[in-house]
Amino acid sequence: MASAKKPNILWVFIKNVASPVFIISAIVLAVKQIPGVLDFLQWAFANAGTTGQVVIVVTTGVGLTYFAVVSMNRQERVAELKAERGMLEERLRLKEAELKQVEENNIRLAEEGVKEDIWRRDVLGAPRFLEKEERSARFIALLNLKGGVGKTTLAANLGVCLALMDRPLKVLLIDLDFQATLSNMSVEAAALLVAGQSGNTSSRLLDRTLARDDFAKLVLGINRVPTGRIIIADVALERVDFQTQARFFLEPKNDVRFLFRSLLHQREIADKFDVVLFDCPPRLTTSTVNALTSSDYVVIPTKLDERSFEAIPRTLSFINNLRTIAQPKIIGVVANEVQFWRRPKLIKAHQNGMARLKELVKASDPDLYVFEAMVELSTDVAFNKEKNLVPSADKGVRKALFEPVATELRTRIGK
Ligand SMILES: Nc1ncnc2c1ncn2[C@@H]1O[C@H](COP(=O)(O)OP(=O)(O)OP(=O)(O)O)[C@@H](O)[C@H]1O
Ligand SMILES: [Mg+2]
Repeated sequence: MASAKKPNILWVFIKNVASPVFIISAIVLAVKQIPGVLDFLQWAFANAGTTGQVVIVVTTGVGLTYFAVVSMNRQERVAELKAERGMLEERLRLKEAELKQVEENNIRLAEEGVKEDIWRRDVLGAPRFLEKEERSARFIALLNLKGGVGKTTLAANLGVCLALMDRPLKVLLIDLDFQATLSNMSVEAAALLVAGQSGNTSSRLLDRTLARDDFAKLVLGINRVPTGRIIIADVALERVDFQTQARFFLEPKNDVRFLFRSLLHQREIADKFDVVLFDCPPRLTTSTVNALTSSDYVVIPTKLDERSFEAIPRTLSFINNLRTIAQPKIIGVVANEVQFWRRPKLIKAHQNGMARLKELVKASDPDLYVFEAMVELSTDVAFNKEKNLVPSADKGVRKALFEPVATELRTRIGK
């Protein structure tokens, strides 16, 4: 670490005493050349009397000494500040190196964690999964490891449909993607800001110490949907997801796979809602694992193209790999963004797509269901009329696009 460097006293004397004296002398000599000035000074000095002369000489001497002392102190202070800056820069360098080390460790943890498949470690003790008969809520995860297939769209619109049907259900949406698309779609901007700033977001569900009363603070209303509630996500979730996973990697006793279950499977919470929908990210995060260990059902949305189909076996084997810790029933695959030739007839490409999907699903798991109802590709979904509003809050959109799937889902979960 840099230490304070003492200034060279000779240099300080030359710079701060000798130079000013030299400059002042030069000025005096120059002033002397002005006609009358020297005569006036001589006259003033001669007429000042002995006391006056002593005062002039002493004042000049004291002035110069004061000036020199002040200058030297200032110089020392500057040197101290420079040393302090050096010290801070050094500390910053050390912190940056530390941070780099942490990042490298994080990458190593992630790689080794995946290799070791930490999510399948033995369970040393898990909170109880409340039987369906003991609670009113049904927990459903919307999951597909492929991005952009409609998980968020379905979570939001199916949730709103179920909350606005003739026999409305009490719905809770939980946003588990740090990109917070579901949150932005469901909650007024001002309320989002307040909840985000006070940290009342879904990353708190991964906080082991979260009390039941604090859980209530996380729950916000869905814009214009009286029986709809949501727990929003924010960017902090990415870090919290990762830190929680890393902690489990380092301390296997600190099991982080059942944190949602320990909260949501308490009767006081599970009886407040009829349906809880988890909007999962297209990734294997701590939140995704937690959603699965608390869920009764999984819904897999897909588009009807080959790229989307590729993700289905991957998603199924991801869920099946976790069977030792999570046993949700895969309640079905829902086709999204379909195009009709003339209702109910699909365009040729999507007729073929649907046949191919059924084939593929059957090959992966003969018991797996493909929903009869589908969601049509529509500009009412892609371009919200209002920014912070789920499209299904509009009755026309709801009836035309999402209610058939919502009704089928409702029948299948027996609600
Ligand atoms: N039926 C539809 N009609 C028109 N656009 C749609 C439809 N479904 C989804 N989209 C659009 O496709 C995009 C992706 O949808 P969405 O965000 O629901 O997918 P996702 O699976 O949640 O994606 P991610 O994996 O990134 O979370 C969005 O812009 C959405 O508006
Ligand atoms: Mg999404």
